[in-house]
Amino acid sequence: MSNNLFDFGMIGLGVMGRNLLLNTADHGFSVIGFDKDLIKTAALEAAATEGTTVKGVPDLAHMVQQLQTPRKLMMLVPAGKPVDDVIESLLPLVEKGDIIIDGGNSHYTDTLRRVKYLREKGIHFMGVGVSGGEQGARTGPSIMPGGDVEAYAHVKPLLEAISAKVNGEPCVAYLGKEGAGHYVKMVHNGIEYAIMQLISESYTLLKHAGLSNDELHETFKKWNEGALQSFLVEITADIFLQNDDKTRARLLDVISDKAGSKGTGKWTSQDSMELPVAVPVIDTAVAMRTISGYKDERVKASVLYNESGATLDVSTEEFIKQVHDALYFATILSYAQGLAMLYQASKELAMDIPLPEVVSVWRGGCIIRSTLLETFTQAYKQSPDLSNILLDSGVASLVKSVEANTRAVVSQAALSGIPAAAFMSSLAYFDAYRTERMTTNLIQAQRDYFGAHTYQRTDISGTFHTEWNH
Ligand code: 6PG
Repeated sequence: MSNNLFDFGMIGLGVMGRNLLLNTADHGFSVIGFDKDLIKTAALEAAATEGTTVKGVPDLAHMVQQLQTPRKLMMLVPAGKPVDDVIESLLPLVEKGDIIIDGGNSHYTDTLRRVKYLREKGIHFMGVGVSGGEQGARTGPSIMPGGDVEAYAHVKPLLEAISAKVNGEPCVAYLGKEGAGHYVKMVHNGIEYAIMQLISESYTLLKHAGLSNDELHETFKKWNEGALQSFLVEITADIFLQNDDKTRARLLDVISDKAGSKGTGKWTSQDSMELPVAVPVIDTAVAMRTISGYKDERVKASVLYNESGATLDVSTEEFIKQVHDALYFATILSYAQGLAMLYQASKELAMDIPLPEVVSVWRGGCIIRSTLLETFTQAYKQSPDLSNILLDSGVASLVKSVEANTRAVVSQAALSGIPAAAFMSSLAYFDAYRTERMTTNLIQAQRDYFGAHTYQRTDISGTFHTEWNH
């Protein structure tokens, strides 16, 4: 093995690929990147830190030949067909034992298919979730690897070096078999959708209470110094202050309210129903982005149904505290639903996802990082096999401490006609989850009444059917 060979290769030198590769080089690894676009290969080399070994090439075979074996290659290309295309073009170039990593947001079922396909050829394929956006990729993302544990051993030192660190601990760990890495990233994104929706509902409520952009900035900034400390609350505080170059108004006020999405939130909802596991805050967040797209209809409906534009008649200070508590409550519920989904999926799909490691990896670098994840890390330390973090007594006392204010906010929203579906949904889930005997016995009776679907009894075991008195 020649010393001139590179440690790590990247396919796709877009924003994420370039930054992740530069980050890798900064940690002492020699790196080579491939992109057909010469502007991108040049941009990679130009951005390299002095003294690091970084090369950009426009020829894939040229790159593969210059890697140490077993080759460690990552691709950061759009999910879907581009990933399959890269695999096909790599196949004639790689050898048994080489490791191909997909660091994009691929659907885990595609990852499963690719793992099997490449395993037959003796190649390790790993689906690895990478979170943290452009900045995270450059300075330390949260990394969620899944796949062959044997292949992970080869890339572990590199991934640990480039990941974010919390208290000196790397935000990367082996998160399970087959498609587990992409599964965990998908659920991460579902939680991301939920928390973003909750923050946007907090904004609506506080706006209706009369807070200006400056006051909203101050409020979120203060929240970020306490129990709600998180990346998303932090950037929200900044957003309220940003001025628009064109109008000199606050930029947020001139941004269209139609929200986009690339689909990972929707995948989380879809997959939750397959399992099944209930993640209604995530479902609601996906639905609200969809409703945001009904702009023309909403304009008509706001006239037809007299949209509530009124300023809330509340004590501002008290209401800010109530919204703070509701956001805390619903954020815990969002994590709880996502983690419960991982718990179930891990068993159903035999992925062996270690939840204590998942929350630990999410503590730094990723979009949903927050101090709450430290609390969950402690909870899982005590009971690693928790099916739902709401069953942890420490988490329960946090939830109970903010329950009354959550009810106050949800009531206020309902009475005033302010849209707060994710808050309502989190409370509704909570109330159902803590109900010992639900009234779904009636649903069973109805099913048996009209369709002879049978039911179970509380007093005698077995399956029963009744000829109901019509
Ligand atoms: C991350 C993000 C990222 C995601 C964007 C956009 O962890 O860095 O989750 O992977 O692609 O947040 O997602 P949407 O376009 O679907 O909102």
